[in-house]
Amino acid sequence: MRRRSPIQTAVFPVAGRGTRFLPATKASPKEMLPVVDKPLIQYAVEEALAAGARRLVFVTGASKRAIEDHFDSDQELEQLLEQQGKSDLLRQLRSVLPSYATCIYIRQPAPLGLGHAVLCARPAVGDEPFFVHLADDLIDAEQPVLAQMSDVYAARQASVIGCQVVPRAETGKYGIVATQGRGDTRRIHGIVEKPRPSAAPSTLAVVGRYLLTPRIFDHLERIGRGAGGEIQLTDGIARLLDEEAVYAHRFVGTRYDCGSKLGYLQATVDYALAHPELGAAFGAHLRRVVQGRPKKR
Ligand code: UTP
Repeated sequence: MRRRSPIQTAVFPVAGRGTRFLPATKASPKEMLPVVDKPLIQYAVEEALAAGARRLVFVTGASKRAIEDHFDSDQELEQLLEQQGKSDLLRQLRSVLPSYATCIYIRQPAPLGLGHAVLCARPAVGDEPFFVHLADDLIDAEQPVLAQMSDVYAARQASVIGCQVVPRAETGKYGIVATQGRGDTRRIHGIVEKPRPSAAPSTLAVVGRYLLTPRIFDHLERIGRGAGGEIQLTDGIARLLDEEAVYAHRFVGTRYDCGSKLGYLQATVDYALAHPELGAAFGAHLRRVVQGRPKKR
């Protein structure tokens, strides 16, 4: 469903190398991994469109051409499906991207970090607030998470970061925020990239959803390399905090870390069980598996 939103642009950084998924991601992008029958990047685009975005900016890198092909129309395939009378499939194919949406592709010359990838999008974003969506964080939510964050922006007119509480032992995998106030939306007064559990200011972790004011670009331009030798978005946000309010929003929804094999498999199982055509048969298969009678192939 299309909604009116003050946020017109969504940035999808898809230039990472996806090393945790090698060799699957050697020649094809991690964001094209399918969860049941849609690639991760399509779930991402659908979420951004549902939050009102209409300009879609993909920051791409090596081996990412499949993403451009996915959002292009394929006349030959459409003709074939038409001839074969496969009208349902044809409709699905045509709805991959609605006609009011525009795709812009920008190349990140080298994978210098998420902050650098976001900075590469600056010419396409301009001087407006924008979403950043990391497709490998798949979030199943009744109200799409970017739409939840857009509502927060409408009320506060400030940057909003999607956050989730994680086990303290896992803080080293995330950006962690320190907040003040109560409730699901709190002002951030500190943010640190991948702290050790003993050094983490909280267990509230940044996951792959951001709504940022364009001021972030000035900070990303000035910061140097941070954790892991990369230009970190977290470091840019830490600078932004010094001059603007930034809010952490604890979203309502279930998140799957599809950049990890386990999270990807969990998403696949849950989405397959919820799939209108496959759910019942797949559920029956899973019951056989847990009862100890897996079908060997
Ligand atoms: P990740 O930290 O998941 O890195 O990046 P990665 O390279 O994709 O995956 P692994 O860790 O090697 O398996 C978080 C997001 O930032 C993007 C990635 O595409 C992913 O969506 N990214 C990261 C860039 O676009 N450019 C970069 O230089 C780094």
